[in-house]
Amino acid sequence: MGQFDFSKRDSFGSKFGVIAAAAGSAVGLGNIWRFPYVAGENGGAAFLIIYVLAIVSIGLPVMLSEFAIGRMAQRNAFGAFKKLAPGKPWYLIGVMGILGAFMILAFYSTVAGWTMEYLFQSITNNFQGKDAATLSTSFDSFRTSGSSPVMWQLIFMVLTAGIVVAGIKNGIEKYTKILMPLLLLIIVALVVRAVTLPGSAEGLAFLFAPDFSKLSAPVILEALGQAFFSMSIGMGVLITYGSYIGKKDNIGNSAAAISAADTLIAILSGVAIFPAVFAFGIEPNSGPGLVFITLPSIFNNMPAGYFFSILFFSLLLIAALTSSISVLEVVVAYCTEQLGWSRKVATAVAAVAITATGVLCTLSQGPWDQLTLFGMNIFDLLDWTSANLLLPLGGFFIVLFAGWFLSRKQVKDEITNSGTTKAVFFEAYLFIIRFIAPIAIGLVFLFGLGVL
Ligand code: PHE
Repeated sequence: MGQFDFSKRDSFGSKFGVIAAAAGSAVGLGNIWRFPYVAGENGGAAFLIIYVLAIVSIGLPVMLSEFAIGRMAQRNAFGAFKKLAPGKPWYLIGVMGILGAFMILAFYSTVAGWTMEYLFQSITNNFQGKDAATLSTSFDSFRTSGSSPVMWQLIFMVLTAGIVVAGIKNGIEKYTKILMPLLLLIIVALVVRAVTLPGSAEGLAFLFAPDFSKLSAPVILEALGQAFFSMSIGMGVLITYGSYIGKKDNIGNSAAAISAADTLIAILSGVAIFPAVFAFGIEPNSGPGLVFITLPSIFNNMPAGYFFSILFFSLLLIAALTSSISVLEVVVAYCTEQLGWSRKVATAVAAVAITATGVLCTLSQGPWDQLTLFGMNIFDLLDWTSANLLLPLGGFFIVLFAGWFLSRKQVKDEITNSGTTKAVFFEAYLFIIRFIAPIAIGLVFLFGLGVL
C-alpha cells in the first residue's frame, strides 16, 4: 500500500498546542471517572498520597523519557524503537503499546458512551426530582441494557475517528486547544459548588485525612496503575505525541506542566465528587458507576442544576474525547508509518477493530457479565490489567531503554535541545530512570501481585 513519506510528517504548530494535546490526553475519564472510584475503593487519603508520590517520582520521569524517545526518533511508538535500536527487541514496547491501545480504548469508549447518554438525559431533564437510590437503579438498568450503550459507544468512536483522521495540526491540536481551557473552568465551578454543600467536610476528610492502616501492597499497585493510566504513560501515547513536538520546545517544562495539570484535575475531581458522595449518602466504594450516580444527585439539588448538568456531561465527554484521540493516534501512526496505509484507511481500520473490542466490554456490563476471568468480567479485566499491569510494565521498559540503552549524551542532548536550554534536574532524572523507577515499579509489581 505504498510508503510513508517521512519528509511530510505532521507536527504540532505551537507550544500551547503541545500542552493542550498532551494534557488533553492525560486529563480524561481517568481523572474524573476512574480516580474517584479507585480512590474510594482503596481508602481515600492514604491512596492519594501514594498516588501523588508515584506521579512525581516515577510518572514524571517516564513521561519525559517518552517525549525524548519520540522526538529523537521522529516516529510512531513502534517505529521509534526500530529506528533507535535496529535489530533489537525493544520494538516489543511498541507492540505492547498497540495492544494497550486496544484494551484501553475498548473499555474507555464504553464509559464515554455512558457519558453521552448522561448528556442526553441532562438535556432532556431526566434527573429532575429523582433521589439517589432511583438514580442508582436507573444507571444500572441503562448500563446493563446492551443496545443503548452500544449505540452511544459507536457514536463516540465516530467522533474520535473524525478528529484523528484530520491529522495533528488540523485535528488533534485544533480541538484540544479549545476544549482544554473550557474543561478547567467547569471543574472549578463544580468544586466551588461541592465544597459548599452541607456535609461536605466528611467527603473532604475522606480525601485528605489519611488512614495509613488502609495501605497494603495491592493498594500501592492500584495507586501506581492509576498514576500511569491518568498520565497516559507506558503505552507510547507520549512517544507518538513527542514525535510531533518541535525541536525547539522545552520538553522538560512541558512534561512538568502536563503532570501538574493532570494531578491537579484529578484532585479537583475528588474534591468535586466526595463531598457530594457523603452529602447524599452514597458509598464511596461503589465502583465504576460512582460519578454517574453522584453527579446527577448534585445537579438535582443545586440552583441552575439543569444547565450545570449539561455543561458537566459535555465536558466529561470532551475529557474523554481528547484522551481517546491520543490512544487511537498510537495505532493510526503505526499503520501509516510502518504499513504505509493512508491516514484515512488507517483511521477507519483501527477504529472499527477497536470498536469491535469495545462492544464486548459494553456487553460484559449486562448480557455477557457471566463471562469472567479471575473473577472479573471483560470490562473490569481490561480496566484492571491495562492500568495495573500493561502500563507499569511498559513504563518499566521505557525507562530502561532511555536510562541504559540510549547514551547519556543522546538523552541529555534531546532534553536540553543540544545544550541550548538548561536542565538542572538532569542528573536526578537520570538516576531515577536508571535505578529508582525500574526498581520501584518492579517491587510494587511483585508485591502487588503477591509474588513476593
Ligand atoms: N490518561 C487518560 C485518562 O486519564 C487515559 C489514557 C490512558 C489515555 C492511557 C491514553 C493512554 O483518562
